[in-house]
Amino acid sequence: MLHLLDIADWSPEDLEKLMDVADDMIARPDDYFDAAKRKKLATLFYEPSTRTRLSFEAAMLELGGQVLGFSEASSSSVSKGESVADTVRTVGCYADLIAMRHPKEGAPTVAAAFSPVPIINAGDGGHHHPTQTLADLLTIRREKGRLNQLVIGLCGDLQFGRTVHSLMNAMARYKSIRFVLVSPEELRVPEYLREGMKSLGVPFTEVERLEDVIGTLDVLYMTRVQKERFFNEADYVRLKDSYILTMEKLKPARRDLSIMHPLPRVNEIRQAVDKDPRACYFKQVLNGKHMRKALILKLLEAAK
Ligand code: NCD
Repeated sequence: MLHLLDIADWSPEDLEKLMDVADDMIARPDDYFDAAKRKKLATLFYEPSTRTRLSFEAAMLELGGQVLGFSEASSSSVSKGESVADTVRTVGCYADLIAMRHPKEGAPTVAAAFSPVPIINAGDGGHHHPTQTLADLLTIRREKGRLNQLVIGLCGDLQFGRTVHSLMNAMARYKSIRFVLVSPEELRVPEYLREGMKSLGVPFTEVERLEDVIGTLDVLYMTRVQKERFFNEADYVRLKDSYILTMEKLKPARRDLSIMHPLPRVNEIRQAVDKDPRACYFKQVLNGKHMRKALILKLLEAAK
């Protein structure tokens, strides 16, 4: 059964096809109004979410399907001690697809081993977030017209930021990609990702100061310091405002830079930047809904 657990499980060709469908949905939304008629999507969110859960729900509703689920584990039998395996076996009797967000790395993979219906990883701990990457890829393709020959700066919490990990794994497969990793020493990308990039031969540099590199970037992907993954509050407070993007800091940046952020932002991008034509983060939000629509149709088709 086809699931979406890790973006690297899907080939660049599969992802391009999904982007083509999303582009078509943007151009001709009426053609898809009942494409998922009589189908149900369950959203099982064991962690907070605004965009991911609501965009999945909006996507399913726009396709003529229906949604059910929970937005906090405390309102489900999880609070009584039910396992992920039993929960998805149960929900798989009610729904045709399951989108799951969970604080434990690998939980959606466990779910997929037991589920009678396709599982979508909607974020697992500090690990992966493949559907955010779908939104990011479509945004880069629409903004830049290409997914190769790019210098991509990733800035902020690169250790716990799961959107960063999935995006790097996806972009590493395109030609002439270079990553500029901007983070405090303590929040550098995990070692496995660094090794993965080396083995794929993808060049990257690691720096601490955004000012030193901002002028070299085609894409700047800002991230929030992931408070919920810290062991102690003092470390979070010390690191949380490591990077704040202002119009002043953008002065040396390229005129065709794309400024991205998976959102929610806390303090990483000043509101004044929102008006700059290079700001793409709310475009990502919209593109995410379209890519989730394309994903839902692909998984329903594959499960037939
Ligand atoms: C991200 C997440 O949950 O990992 N948000 C999202 O889904 N767009 C990023 C974050 O929480 O910082």
